[in-house]
Amino acid sequence: MKKIFKIFIYVFAGIIVLAVGGYVYMMTQYPKVIPPPDLKITPTAEMIERGKYLAYGFAACMDCHSTRDFSKFTGPIAPGSEGKGGEDFSEGVGLVIAKNITPDKETGLGNWTDGEIFRAITMGLDKDGEALGPMMPYPFYRNFNEQDIYAIIAFIKTLKPIKNETPKHSFNFPLNLIFRTLPSEPDFKKLPDKNNKLELGSYYAGSCMICHSPMEKGEFIKEKLFSGGVAFPLPKGGYVKSSNISPDKETGIGNWTKEEFIKKFKSYQLPENQNIPVKDGEFNTVMPWIGFSTCTEEDLGAVYDFIMTHEPVKNKVEKFSATGFPQGN
Ligand code: HEC
Ligand code: HEC
Repeated sequence: MKKIFKIFIYVFAGIIVLAVGGYVYMMTQYPKVIPPPDLKITPTAEMIERGKYLAYGFAACMDCHSTRDFSKFTGPIAPGSEGKGGEDFSEGVGLVIAKNITPDKETGLGNWTDGEIFRAITMGLDKDGEALGPMMPYPFYRNFNEQDIYAIIAFIKTLKPIKNETPKHSFNFPLNLIFRTLPSEPDFKKLPDKNNKLELGSYYAGSCMICHSPMEKGEFIKEKLFSGGVAFPLPKGGYVKSSNISPDKETGIGNWTKEEFIKKFKSYQLPENQNIPVKDGEFNTVMPWIGFSTCTEEDLGAVYDFIMTHEPVKNKVEKFSATGFPQGN
């Protein structure tokens, strides 16, 4: 009996040593240090225009980094809050708040070098070289084109500086360790050829994929691309699930023509569609309809063409619940 007890203590001590060792290893070896590139962006009017197009549209920076007014349908950006941060992405992970990306010197990016901003967007490291959480979708921007990232930086530097302190993140175990391993060197894509619609659509459909494709262990499930059903908490309680936008005729958008698809997006350019009041407990959505409505018909059409090359997936999605949050999401 005594001997067994001793063995138990040894094993237990062994496990603790391994666990502590592993913890210390992860905390000291990760994130991998990647120095910010020595970069000085000389903005042109054309670059700023391109950056604005992406930041409001397919890159969706402004949707996450501004205040969204969910007393209205699709949560339009509250005027005057552009880039100030503060939206809460903590659900299930600890504490993480979108940061102030305006050029304010104390609370925003005013004192960051272009290289540091570039590194944050494409490699997921903050000014001090600490890992950002992947709710800042740098694993997606690492596949953008470099010139487009320069353009986005040129644009966000034109935002009105807003003083707004945002708290530092704090992730639950083991995410605090896992997130440290994610920052890595970018893998930039070439700019898509405008005449190659599928290449163009594939370049722009990344954000659609993130919200509309279910994942397993951080990877898209190949057979379920664009089949929807991913749940997002709604700020007023309950949740909304992304639609099935695979080409399935019954449960997806297989019956939508390209014109209908483009028209649905463009309808959110109308001021009356940007001001639809929503009461607590009524259907609302995180789909950034208003931001995407600024995308060109050509680019939206290319996204449609690209989505339509995928397998139709049968998956009926109940989009909305006024209460609760589904397990395992
Ligand atoms: C889905 C929401 C989302 C989108 C889209 C998004 N961000 Fe973020 N971003 C975040 C969150 C949340 C954080 C804070 C992460 C953390 O603290 O770990 C963040 C952090 C950052 C930081 C680091 C700032 C700091 O003080 O540490 C920068 C810079 C940044 N984002 C810029 C951008 C730009 C530019 C874009 C568009 C190309 C963008 N973000 C798109 C959610 C988002
Ligand atoms: C932040 C997450 C998010 C992003 C990014 C996103 N969607 Fe959505 N989308 C949703 C949610 C949630 C719904 C369901 C609620 C609604 O209808 O708005 C939806 C609905 C839709 C619908 C309506 C389908 C129907 O049955 O009525 C279409 C079409 C669509 N999305 C296409 C896209 C495309 C194309 C992109 C990329 C350009 C995209 N979405 C990006 C979350 C997102």
